[in-house]
Amino acid sequence: MDIRSQFPILSQSVYKHPLVYLDNAATTQKPVSVIETLTEYYKTLNSNIHRGAHYLAAQATEQYESVRRQVQKFINARHHHEIVFTRGTTESINLVASSFCKRFLKEDDEVIVSGMEHHSDIVPWQLAGARLRVIPFSDEGVLDLEAYKNLFNEKTRIVAVNHVSNTLGTINPVKELVEIAHAHNVPILIDGAQSISHIKVDVQELGCDFYCFSGHKMYGPMGVGVMYGREELLNEIPPYQGGGEMIKDVTFDLTTYNELPFKFEAGTPSVGDVLGLGSAIRFMEEIGIEQIHATEDDLLHYAAEQMKEIDGMRFIGTAPNKTSVISFLIGESHPYDVGTLLDKLGIAVRTGHHCTQPIMERFGIPGTVRASFAVYNTREEVDLFINALKRIAPMLM
Ligand code: ALA
Repeated sequence: MDIRSQFPILSQSVYKHPLVYLDNAATTQKPVSVIETLTEYYKTLNSNIHRGAHYLAAQATEQYESVRRQVQKFINARHHHEIVFTRGTTESINLVASSFCKRFLKEDDEVIVSGMEHHSDIVPWQLAGARLRVIPFSDEGVLDLEAYKNLFNEKTRIVAVNHVSNTLGTINPVKELVEIAHAHNVPILIDGAQSISHIKVDVQELGCDFYCFSGHKMYGPMGVGVMYGREELLNEIPPYQGGGEMIKDVTFDLTTYNELPFKFEAGTPSVGDVLGLGSAIRFMEEIGIEQIHATEDDLLHYAAEQMKEIDGMRFIGTAPNKTSVISFLIGESHPYDVGTLLDKLGIAVRTGHHCTQPIMERFGIPGTVRASFAVYNTREEVDLFINALKRIAPMLM
């Protein structure tokens, strides 16, 4: 399959340079198949699901529910009703934090998170009233599992950690983290925003209780995400939002709730985006996750080896087990300056704290420059990136 030709956005020039898009950890580009699914939906199928008595509504409902089954297979969930559609990882984590804590959290109770969490896996727990205990990590960006074990006590209600750090690229040992949490009878949520498009995710094999991810980081549309939750827990926790479809019966005195997963899907969902997510999964499955990982891993090492040769290069996050994320600084220069100069040469990277301020504090830096690769990137693009770095590094030293 010619992967690159499926992404029209990549063939443009910016500032008279070919666009080299290396900001894939922020969002991936979309293949034509996903774009066409969206336009076809609005051209031929648009209607509200689960409600209408007419042809279009029935067709749209069937397709929406078939994507739920597709997601179930994709992450190997036991039941399709364990798949809840949300707006993205952030909403998925907010849902769990709010509903789980409403049901289980008492005053002074604790939630364990890691020191490398995205703000969206810190703030929702704080909003829900939890006290946070934090798993530290090494200078390379590897979690300290001994310290993790010592964070549990009778007040620990849940663990919430990312599968892959968006800033450091570290692939965390989720299976081990799950086993340790379960040995303490504590459930665990995994933020899969940065793993879902890079490595195989099998929620039954991992054994996690919740797994959250976004469509837009896996070649799908923005505005759709998934919250996987184990059936027993989803039945235990209250709804997140109230509204249409999430109810069984409503009276002014008492409302009862719909069955799973509808209890957690109040209001009209983003149907077209869900269908787009289904299309993105098909795109990924056609290539195969092993092939995606191998391509990205090759780019990671090809880039990192050459970057090492550049004077002043400092890597932030050098764990042995990484996805295709390279965070770096050049000498003492500000990441924003590096990003701006790269941009003028057509290279798109992200700069700043990447919504992980505690990581920046841990390293005593204002932010990093982050290059992140997807399956459509090429070694030629890495060469352009390296040449650009070689050009700008002396200006910044
Ligand atoms: N969380 C996204 C990132 O890491 C936006 O860039």
